[in-house]
Amino acid sequence: MKICEKEIMELEKSCRMARMYGNYIKKTPCFIERQRYQMLMLNELEHAAYLISIIRKKLDENFFRQEREFTLEELAGFNGADGKPAYIAIDGVVYDVSNNPAWGGGTHFGVVAGTDATMEFKSCHKEQVLAKLQRVGVLKNI
Ligand code: HEM
Repeated sequence: MKICEKEIMELEKSCRMARMYGNYIKKTPCFIERQRYQMLMLNELEHAAYLISIIRKKLDENFFRQEREFTLEELAGFNGADGKPAYIAIDGVVYDVSNNPAWGGGTHFGVVAGTDATMEFKSCHKEQVLAKLQRVGVLKNI
């Protein structure tokens, strides 16, 4: 199921209902009935506003959770300099080393952040070290 599909369908339904009540309000000569439809229309609009806030929240969360695809040029921008995050690629996977004490300032034993350091990593570390790092994306296949 696509993201927010249920909420979007519900939102469409609320909008349809609100429009229908709006039409009743225009056509109904009876004051009491008009007031009743106004109440119903207001309920639908309030529900629609609530659904929009849920959709917005879900989309924001999804955006931040989503993995990015990086070209080597894009990766180079994440070198830890001037407050930028420090990312490093190993075997096509991009990791965030910004908050790792061993990577202060975006450098680590001569290796600089913003690069593919697969070779250096393999000559210095075992796989387990990567489990400590936050994965932020993958390198684009070009
Ligand atoms: C030139 C090759 C490298 C050498 C000689 C090297 C050496 C070291 C050493 C000695 C430590 C321990 C530092 C300490 O405890 O203060 C360390 C930690 C670490 N290194 Fe490297 N490293 C190399 C390359 C890399 C690369 C390419 C990565 C990429 C991910 C990496 C990721 C880490 C991490 C995440 C830690 C912290 C581990 C922990 O928190 O226990 N290293 N490295």
